[in-house]
Amino acid sequence: MNNSGIYPELQGRVALVTGAARGFGRAIAIRLAREGAKIIVNYRRSLSDAQAVAKEIETFGGEAVSFRADIGREEALDKMFEMIASKFGRLDIVVANAAFGIPGKLMDASSKHWDVTLAASARSLLDIARRAAPLMREGQGRIISITSDGGQKVIPGYGVVGPAKAALESVTRGLAFELAPKGIIVNGILAGLADTKSSRSIPGADEVIAHARHHTPAGRIVEPVDVANAVAFLASDQAGMICGQFIVVDGGRNIVG
Ligand SMILES: NC(=O)c1ccc[n+]([C@@H]2O[C@H](COP(=O)([O-])OP(=O)(O)OC[C@H]3O[C@@H](n4cnc5c(N)ncnc54)[C@H](OP(=O)(O)O)[C@@H]3O)[C@@H](O)[C@H]2O)c1
Repeated sequence: MNNSGIYPELQGRVALVTGAARGFGRAIAIRLAREGAKIIVNYRRSLSDAQAVAKEIETFGGEAVSFRADIGREEALDKMFEMIASKFGRLDIVVANAAFGIPGKLMDASSKHWDVTLAASARSLLDIARRAAPLMREGQGRIISITSDGGQKVIPGYGVVGPAKAALESVTRGLAFELAPKGIIVNGILAGLADTKSSRSIPGADEVIAHARHHTPAGRIVEPVDVANAVAFLASDQAGMICGQFIVVDGGRNIVG
């Protein structure tokens, strides 16, 4: 197979990437496939984009299947995990990448909005981990969540996604504690601002992106591949003793006041 992987142990491992049709998830799916992992390309609405990701993976000799599931709904997760169990019989890597939220002020968010956002962007990590753990092999399981500055800081217009990211981070640590004795390693990536559909939906996105570009020591904002590279490392055997941590991938943005 023509891949350009650097972690040979990932060859043949089975990886679920949520929200893999575009943005970070797409880059993560392709990167893990380049390492030789078999990919479940999860999506909710973006059918043609998800199919395109699976097709791209197949063009370089990889294996991928796209699967529609709203990760905020447990019955949809049940169907996805039935497919994973019957098609692959195991799962080695979960990248909890998908997030959902309506931008705006926290004070304007309805309780329904709160419930939907927390279900898709935070509770889903726990719901997925419960279903994934029994399919993971001792010592090989990896669960990786994706968070942002909004879990710890106020991002104007980020709405309920901020509280959801704070919950996601806490669940990541709790799972790391409970699953490490079973040989499943749980960590996260705290990504800086990237120019994707989700960041474009935040009010004043042009200004926010220009500001981040200007104030990032690395001289550019984050690209999806930067996040994918860190995910591949956390998925690898090299990261086996990193547990319950968040790797900050932001070009140094958060060290500047
Ligand atoms: N972009 C940034 O600046 C940035 C910075 C830090 C962290 N992050 C985090 O990185 C992750 C990816 O962000 P992104 O910028 O790549 O976003 P994006 O381009 O908007 O992609 C988000 C993906 O999540 C999927 N999704 C949303 N709700 C879902 C649900 N209920 N079930 C299944 N899939 C769902 C979407 O799928 P459909 O289109 O099929 O609905 C979409 O493919 C998110 O957790 C985000 O919070 C982003």
